[in-house]
Amino acid sequence: MVGRLAIEGGAPVRTEPWPRRVQFGEEEVEAVNEVMREALENSMKLWRKGGERCIKFEEEFARFFGTKYAVAVSSGTAAIHVALASLRLDPGSEVITSPITDVGTVTPIIYENLIPVFADVDPETLNVTPESIAERITEKTKVIMPVHLWGAPCEMDPIMELAEEKDLIVIEDCAQAHGATYKGKLVGSIGDMGCFSLMNGKHITTGGEGGAVITNEEEYRQNALLASRSGFATWATIRFDIVYPVLNYRLTEIQAAIGLVQLKKLPNIVSRRRELSMRLAELISDLDAVKFPKILEDSEPSFWFLPLFVDLDRVKVSLDKFAEALRGEGIPVGARYTVAPMYEYTFMKERNTYGRSQCPWCCPLYGRRIEYADSCPNAKEALQRVLTVPIHESCTEKEVEDLASALRKVEAAYIKK
Ligand SMILES: Cc1ncc(COP(=O)(O)O)c(C=O)c1O
Repeated sequence: MVGRLAIEGGAPVRTEPWPRRVQFGEEEVEAVNEVMREALENSMKLWRKGGERCIKFEEEFARFFGTKYAVAVSSGTAAIHVALASLRLDPGSEVITSPITDVGTVTPIIYENLIPVFADVDPETLNVTPESIAERITEKTKVIMPVHLWGAPCEMDPIMELAEEKDLIVIEDCAQAHGATYKGKLVGSIGDMGCFSLMNGKHITTGGEGGAVITNEEEYRQNALLASRSGFATWATIRFDIVYPVLNYRLTEIQAAIGLVQLKKLPNIVSRRRELSMRLAELISDLDAVKFPKILEDSEPSFWFLPLFVDLDRVKVSLDKFAEALRGEGIPVGARYTVAPMYEYTFMKERNTYGRSQCPWCCPLYGRRIEYADSCPNAKEALQRVLTVPIHESCTEKEVEDLASALRKVEAAYIKK
């Protein structure tokens, strides 16, 4: 017997509120107090130059990810901008990335006068495929920037092989993938540089906003320090020669103090998310219309969010209706992740960049014309089927069971016979 859906007047699977994610606690409060107290009693400085925490945070962050260096910056967008800027590429160079991502992946490309190119995704993972990246490589391509969406590692071996063969730089966008591993390696440490967002809501935060770039290359590190005005020669640029224009993307000592505490919590956050998400995979493995995402062999996602795919050919309702029914059952799911592939957003379609110039696309140094329309059909189609499920480390087995029951109930109500 199929239970009556809550949105049709039945009893909901769950009435208690979904647990709030407890992302920080007293330890972070103490760390902030300590750094403030020290500054008050001694230096009166809370910026990077005034203390040791930013440097310590960079050391610890690099140690965690097994790279030689980390450069802490003010956001994930800043991390990507700094990584790209540190390459000193000619305008009109192409950067291949994912069409399903945050705008923070794409804006820095445009601000460096580079051309974003979108590779299509595997519709079962939402991540760019090496095959699609290979098809997009031209003589203008300089960078591949895979995005490990929802914390699921991209297929890094073939991506690195491609990069080696074509002499390209790989910048991993790990803004959602702290602690995810691919063949035993933490993502971010596989490419030439790895970029992290440390904003509120990511696996860990440096107090609301923050970011970091990791690398094994001394040259990239030096350039990233320079590009973010974090390095010695850029504290007070007016007193030094300014070699090229730089931005201020520095982290503060307060943020670094929080980050140091948060970093210690990362392993438990990741393992708990994995445990709960994989438990859900077991519980819903027999469903017909709702599918768990594909997980690459030898990879362990870190589940920033969990995407579930609804086979719309198997159900009688739209994705929005399916999501509404789940919310009615007390499960706060979202429908879709981004509304469309990145090239369908107005700023990309109308090329709204610098005034009316449409730079960098019209730059003579580019000398090509790129059309994006319908270039990533898999991404577009897959986005129409995705539910985003809020499993996080403050959830318990009970939430996972309720989630599975609600999915089962809604599927049973809407499945085509
Ligand atoms: C994949 C991806 N890249 C880049 C960013 C930008 O990071 P931030 O918001 O910290 O600037 C985000 C943030 O959500 C992201 O999810």
